[in-house]
Amino acid sequence: MQEQEIYLIGLIHNIGLLKEEMAIHFPNWRFNYGVHGFVTFRSEVEYKLPDLREMNITFSLVKGVSLFRGTWAELDQRREHFEKKHSPVSTHYWNLLEEKGEMGDRKVRGTVFDIIRIANDDYILGVRMQVRGDFAPYSGSSPIPMPEEAPSRAYQKLGEVFKHFRPLVAHEEVFLDIGCSPGGSTFYLMEKGFRVVGVDPIPVDPIITEKFPEGFLQLGQSFVELKKKHLLGLPPVGWIVLDVELPIFNTLPRLLKLVSKLDSVIGLIVTVKMNLEMSVDKVEEVDELLRNANFTDIKKGQLPSHNREYCIIAKKRD
Ligand SMILES: C[S@@+](CC[C@H](N)C(=O)[O-])C[C@H]1O[C@@H](n2cnc3c(N)ncnc32)[C@H](O)[C@@H]1O
Repeated sequence: MQEQEIYLIGLIHNIGLLKEEMAIHFPNWRFNYGVHGFVTFRSEVEYKLPDLREMNITFSLVKGVSLFRGTWAELDQRREHFEKKHSPVSTHYWNLLEEKGEMGDRKVRGTVFDIIRIANDDYILGVRMQVRGDFAPYSGSSPIPMPEEAPSRAYQKLGEVFKHFRPLVAHEEVFLDIGCSPGGSTFYLMEKGFRVVGVDPIPVDPIITEKFPEGFLQLGQSFVELKKKHLLGLPPVGWIVLDVELPIFNTLPRLLKLVSKLDSVIGLIVTVKMNLEMSVDKVEEVDELLRNANFTDIKKGQLPSHNREYCIIAKKRD
């Protein structure tokens, strides 16, 4: 029986998490090999490319089907044959040896090729389904330029969230930025024209109020004590960012309790740190907490700035 070889590319520093996730959720896929940020599995079930793309694998950036493995010269020889068969709209080059990717057109929707250099003269040609906006810099370098004034790298993290997940946020939206200090995420949100209510016992960097004299207010307290009454008189919060580096099973239920009292909240952006308290087998439990609070539209994924963490964008369905 012909088996399908499925490849996944993950963030190079989180590849262990990807392997763990695969062992838990796809025990029937047999691990084939892995190198750098690249792993392959053999599956007896043959998947169609759109179905493969839709599979929610938190720690993988892309998923495709291997077509061919060989030297550069062999690949060159067979390329036309595969192009005729699959008509790719773009081709991406992944040089895993140099941790460099030379991405083709990531804005087109359709079948794309990945040419992946896994060893000196050893290449894989793979095919997968790409949806407009996919991006996958796997080596950890952020596609978001960091402004000199931005107080922290959370600026880039938020930028990557918007670039990758493209949450539909109305222009006049108000964000509650929990754990806002020193202010990278707030800086990004303000720059995009949103209004921000920050929550953090530590004051944000003064650059925030210097650069954005209007539209920002900080509640200098722990969010654990935050009650609906503290937000009275402020513009209603539509979205919440939670990035506090505290145990998720402690913070998220508290946040959801507060949110249950705030009808205006429609979306959450949550960073989940993987640590002793939060392991790969508990990813589903976090989703369950969100679903039980009516946040049923859940997207998860890896952003280039992530190191042993992942991000959730959860929305209430309209
Ligand atoms: C990783 S930093 C967040 C980075 C920040 N979002 C930025 O854009 O620069 C974590 C922050 O969470 C804050 N924090 C920790 N526990 C908190 C709590 N219970 N309530 C509010 N903020 C808290 C810390 O004071 C710290 O400033």
